[in-house]
Amino acid sequence: MIKIAIDGPSGSGKSSVAKAVSARLGIVYVDTGALYRSIGYYVRTKDKDPKNAEEVSALLPEIELDVKYENGIQCVYLNGENLGDKIRQPEISMYASAVSAIPAVREFLLETQKSIARKNNVVMDGRDIGTVILPDADVKIFMTASNEARARRRYDELTAKGVKVRYEDVLSEMIERDENDRSRAVAPAVPAEDAIMFDNSEHSLEESIDRVIEIIKERVGEIK
Ligand code: DC
Repeated sequence: MIKIAIDGPSGSGKSSVAKAVSARLGIVYVDTGALYRSIGYYVRTKDKDPKNAEEVSALLPEIELDVKYENGIQCVYLNGENLGDKIRQPEISMYASAVSAIPAVREFLLETQKSIARKNNVVMDGRDIGTVILPDADVKIFMTASNEARARRRYDELTAKGVKVRYEDVLSEMIERDENDRSRAVAPAVPAEDAIMFDNSEHSLEESIDRVIEIIKERVGEIK
């Protein structure tokens, strides 16, 4: 089985790159952020404090998450409901980041992630894929870009979807979320020791995809 880990902060382009890599190499793309977003979404609908470990942990037994692939697109089902784009709202990003610092939440999602990689060739994106989920990945890439480049991409992505936001808010929320993700005690969003660092501030999406495919081919050769 081929395992490719792509980690990095929000707006680093990791999910767009991982999706393209999955299509080009014909392997499964796993968006692990969607799982944390789904838990964040559930906590939001229950009107609980996402930073309160006790409150959030108490909700976990009520949650059943299912990851399915429909026409090559990852769909997360929460208690039977396909959440679709509901988990993409900026508010849910903050909820996801807050719940992701809770050890019981990470534990809850561990097996789901590992079992997908056991059964499929995968390119998985997240924050702790190279360090915790797939420490034996064939290729580990940690993607970064400047705060401004990342905020600009996230802003363009949200406005293209019709979500009304201000650039300044996107930038400050992104910085706050990254700080949460990097400084948490469990599985902080930091590069694995053996990860290849890739700063793509000055690269277009197409260039980033080409570079990542190149790195993968150097490491694992052509994937049949
Ligand atoms: O990749 P994303 O923006 O959809 O992720 C949402 C949040 O989920 C992110 O702020 C931190 C958390 N996350 C995580 O802790 N570990 C992962 N592997 C993926 C996401």
